[in-house]
Amino acid sequence: MVCYPFRIAYACSSCAYLLVLLCSAFADIPPSLAPQVARELKPTETPAPNPSNVFARERIAFLRTEIARHDDLYFKQANPEISDFEYDRLKQELRNLEYSFPNIAKSLTTLLEIGDDRDGLFQTDRHETPMLSLRKAYSHSALQRFHKQVSHASNEEAVLYLIEPKIDGIAISLTYEQGNLVRALTRGNGLEGDDITANIMTIPSIPKKLTDTTEDGQKTTIPDRIEIRGEIFSNFSDFEAINRQRESRGESRFTHPRSLAAGSAKLSDSNQTAQRKLSVLFFGYGDFLPSSIVPKTQREFYQLAHSWGLPVLQTVRTAKGIDRLSTAINDEKSNLSEHPYPTDGLVVKVDLIALQAKLGYTNQAPRWALAYKFAPKQAETRLLSINIQVGRTGLLTPLAEFAPVSISGSKISRATLHNRRSISKLDLHIGDTIIIEKAGEIIPRIVSVDTSKRHADSTPYAFPDRCPSCSSAINLLSNEANLYCYNAKCPAQLQRRIEHFASSQCMNIDGLGPATIQLLIASKVVKDLPDLYKLESSKLLSPEKTNLVSTNKLLNSIKRSKHADLWRVICGIGIPGIGKARAKILAETIGSLESLSEISKVDFDGASEYNSIDAVTRRAILDYFSVPDNRTLVKQLILAGIQPSLSSKPSKSILSDKHFVLTGKLPTLSRQKATQVIESLGGIVRDTITEKTDYLLLGTNPGSKLKEAQERNITIIDEAFILRLTRE
Ligand code: IVH
Repeated sequence: MVCYPFRIAYACSSCAYLLVLLCSAFADIPPSLAPQVARELKPTETPAPNPSNVFARERIAFLRTEIARHDDLYFKQANPEISDFEYDRLKQELRNLEYSFPNIAKSLTTLLEIGDDRDGLFQTDRHETPMLSLRKAYSHSALQRFHKQVSHASNEEAVLYLIEPKIDGIAISLTYEQGNLVRALTRGNGLEGDDITANIMTIPSIPKKLTDTTEDGQKTTIPDRIEIRGEIFSNFSDFEAINRQRESRGESRFTHPRSLAAGSAKLSDSNQTAQRKLSVLFFGYGDFLPSSIVPKTQREFYQLAHSWGLPVLQTVRTAKGIDRLSTAINDEKSNLSEHPYPTDGLVVKVDLIALQAKLGYTNQAPRWALAYKFAPKQAETRLLSINIQVGRTGLLTPLAEFAPVSISGSKISRATLHNRRSISKLDLHIGDTIIIEKAGEIIPRIVSVDTSKRHADSTPYAFPDRCPSCSSAINLLSNEANLYCYNAKCPAQLQRRIEHFASSQCMNIDGLGPATIQLLIASKVVKDLPDLYKLESSKLLSPEKTNLVSTNKLLNSIKRSKHADLWRVICGIGIPGIGKARAKILAETIGSLESLSEISKVDFDGASEYNSIDAVTRRAILDYFSVPDNRTLVKQLILAGIQPSLSSKPSKSILSDKHFVLTGKLPTLSRQKATQVIESLGGIVRDTITEKTDYLLLGTNPGSKLKEAQERNITIIDEAFILRLTRE
């Protein structure tokens, strides 16, 4: 029996939670969804009757970690797992809890609010004016609260608002100085972003120079300096075309246009960015000098930016006062699916710039604008099957297959279920009638089951007890939500491991796509990563010796990858939790593969030079290399000839993303060394001259490439030219 004082404390803490729940209901979450918010709290709904509010502490800590995880998935991996709506709900719950339990909130470390898209692979630069986020609303009452604040500052009810589509891409800030484009930065952490100028330059609609004469011959003033802000995105048609092209090459599809835009804007080869057909629209500005020429209204800004040759939002609607604003939002909501680009809501903005200035900003967002979002759309369908996918770490991810349904204009027939807990939470039976929604308008997910339509003799889905690829036993008795296939030789794991290793994010091995990998595994020529480096053309060729060219190309790119940057190798071996950014820090700090695999807890704890390595990375490294097979893998890679070069930041030199072809014998450098030097300066070395080739590095006794380069007007350079650059 619980003793009396404990009961009071328990009741108080429950009351506080009730309050938090009520706050959530009155915040930006529509009342109809309040039960869902309550359901969210379920995992912790029987807290220990402890006066120190263990419940709140745990929940705050949980929410912060969870939000950080989703930030990472969204900003760094461009692969969100939940909808914006669910994300906002987590944030709202955290805000409410932090408000109700300020002491607990303070005692736990805080979280960055804006997220961070910097990935350590680009040079970074500061924004002159911070790039902020937008406050979000999901309900009419939240809109009314916004209007109340605005009309109070403006001293009148009839405020003029703009209603715009909220484009779902990645935020970009371009700096023009005296009309010339000098820099393009991502939002980053709001203060400092990744410099992706070279990639942005490949988007045809972005002017390198602003024009000062309008279409009807009027002169406009070009600012001394302006930061133009907008969104890079992929139109639905381009998204589909690029995915079709990828599928035909045996490559994986982009899950949604946002990840295509984010991935493409951040490629290390701007020629590849150019092929992704990115689009851009601008809707704001940061720094604007001189301030005397800043327009008086947001609409005038759009006209002005348009006259400078910048693509701006054309679908802007106006409304005066809250009632018209509300009607306009309802109309524009139904127009959203008409846009050729992905949207994730509407943006409401105060038109008058003076009023914008008066309202000002919070730390995270302007007070003069609001993102108006909609709860995701849903549809009903039938669950046909659940297939288990095997990841590169052996993680088993269930994928639901259902009868195709149309939501927001596109047909969907699959949704990830994440892990077995998601299946049991939903209590799925094959044949069930399920409710699907498109989270963030893009990612399909199963929301619930209509049990009233369930077949009487159906049974709950049972997770298989054998790996679908290698049939090894799965430990269903484990308490973990995630289940694994622990057979290191499982072909499906190997396939995913090699795909990851060879990907452009890691070793960047040209020509080693999923279909080739499958062939190599099926023919038993490749049984693990080091085997890639033992491949010989005689073993790869069909008896008819048909595909000699592509075989040689593949072997060359595998050979070239032996000297990839160290961070690429670290990222490529696939240590759970270690992506590009962490691999980069590890490479810079630890310096070699051997040292990394031999590092111990004592080394980490005892030396200040490892301070830049966070606790999660340390744990991941120690866990991974505590498995003898993983240390052996590294040794075998080294024995197979992997000699990574030390990580270098892609330089801003003229070699950045330029394509090189080498011919003849160089005076001092071996071909291998020259390749290494060029790549360390951000260049790309290829074997054959194509339309992409920028430079031919010429040695003595050149081959036919010299003639070809001359015919194509390709710049010819010598070894001294490259060596000079390394000293700059
Ligand atoms: S105005 C201070 N207008 O949404 C921020 N943003 O979630 C002012 N976005 O960072 C931004 N469409 O990248 C604005 N019509 C639009 C937008 C828009 C998309 C993005 C933008 C912003 C993010 C905030």
